[in-house]
Amino acid sequence: MVEIGVFDAIHSARALRRFRPDPVPDELITRVLDAALRAPSASGVQNWMFVVVKDPALRARLGELYRESSRVVLAEYADRLKPAHLGDRQYELMKKSSGYLFEHMADAPVLIVAALKLGAPGSRHSPLKGEQEMARFWRLSGASIYPAVQNLILACRALGLGTVLTTIHAYYEEALKAALGLPADVHTYALMPMGWPIDKFGPVKRRPLSEVAFRDRWGNSWVG
Ligand SMILES: Cc1cc2nc3c(=O)[nH]c(=O)nc-3n(C[C@H](O)[C@H](O)[C@H](O)COP(=O)(O)O)c2cc1C
Repeated sequence: MVEIGVFDAIHSARALRRFRPDPVPDELITRVLDAALRAPSASGVQNWMFVVVKDPALRARLGELYRESSRVVLAEYADRLKPAHLGDRQYELMKKSSGYLFEHMADAPVLIVAALKLGAPGSRHSPLKGEQEMARFWRLSGASIYPAVQNLILACRALGLGTVLTTIHAYYEEALKAALGLPADVHTYALMPMGWPIDKFGPVKRRPLSEVAFRDRWGNSWVG
């Protein structure tokens, strides 16, 4: 395996959604998960949970739920406009690639569900009261899982594995939780297919820094 620097990994870990059927050794999955749990979490709670799904019948079930979710997404977002910063070709490719996954989630040899054990509101693990406090809690809840998810993405890249963060399973989250036996206080944040990619890594193209970063005050573009 060729070593890859962290900046090269960041610049090439694009969303990959097509995978060869070849199995991924457990040792590599362990390395990827170990990288995930090196991430920070709020107050160091480390309440993340990762379910690695390799069993073909369970993958098929998750694939079915992802397909069902995609129908809801397609209906809900039928009139969605192209983000202005994406070129026509880039947008079409993104839609084609996500559309492929709608039908082929189960083809990935490994599916990883990233979740957080949040505790029931008002319990020892989640002593929250009031609507505002709850709203803030839910708005920030993903903050303790997505750093781990990004570590996972970069670790996959370093090992030559492809993956993509997906979230639309949320439409059928209860069914997904039932399929995997997740307890009620475990909430899912990502369903990530993983495997040896058919397509190439990077480059990752993004809006220019000057459009999204400011010096001192909003509107004063960062010019490095
Ligand atoms: C919060 C979040 C949710 C996403 N959900 C999905 C999803 O449900 N399905 C999917 O195919 N891709 C999903 N993606 C992947 C994005 O489409 C992808 O990161 C984006 O198009 C950039 O792709 P690139 O890195 O190849 O340029 C999601 C990404 C993020 C950050």
